[in-house]
Amino acid sequence: MSETSERTPMDWDQRFKDNTTPWERGVLHPAFLDWRESGAFDDRERIIVPGCGRSPELKAFAALGKQVIGADLSGTALAAQKAMLDGDGLQAELIEADILLWRPDTPLDGIYEQTFLCAISPRLRQEYEQAVHAWLKPGGKLFALFMQKNEPGGPPYGCPLEAMRELFPDDRWEWPDGDPVPYPHPLLDDKAELAIILTRR
Ligand SMILES: C[S@@+](CC[C@H](N)C(=O)[O-])C[C@H]1O[C@@H](n2cnc3c(N)ncnc32)[C@H](O)[C@@H]1O
Repeated sequence: MSETSERTPMDWDQRFKDNTTPWERGVLHPAFLDWRESGAFDDRERIIVPGCGRSPELKAFAALGKQVIGADLSGTALAAQKAMLDGDGLQAELIEADILLWRPDTPLDGIYEQTFLCAISPRLRQEYEQAVHAWLKPGGKLFALFMQKNEPGGPPYGCPLEAMRELFPDDRWEWPDGDPVPYPHPLLDDKAELAIILTRR
């Protein structure tokens, strides 16, 4: 899909075709590695990576034996994901869609959020919160990496903690105690991504 629309003014598919993808680390996110190492994914069976692009975490979840869904607007990105999965004999469900409009038949255990919320228009944030809440079963986890950015505009659009506290209210989400761990993004001027696991009530 290479069309843009009012919902998604960025032509993401063309970005993948042109390889103008500065958000791509090319390796597993260090927060993913830390969460995996700590066992945070152990009791999560069905996980979605929304706006997965070509990120290697999808394949890494499949390698852990998870039932994983990769979703993206970009057919080019999903074709790359399929090639990576096939190359390692792994499987994932791939959905090419505006994923905010999608709902699963059976609620999921986990969502891995990496540079997706910061990529969509802030106008869609309420819709994002409604969607991710609907995707998860009670007790389901949102593994979030909230992009910190002071400059206006985007993408990426900044996801300051205060705004995230409002977007994911206490009556719908349980917030962990303590300060979130910042992970600088080396290809985005070391902008920090705050790693937080929210639990759906
Ligand atoms: C900044 S990229 C991040 C890709 C990937 N998460 C990563 O870390 O490499 C944002 C991704 O979200 C996808 N995207 C944007 N809006 C979307 C939507 N409404 N539904 C599904 N995917 C969307 C884009 O096609 C793109 O792959």
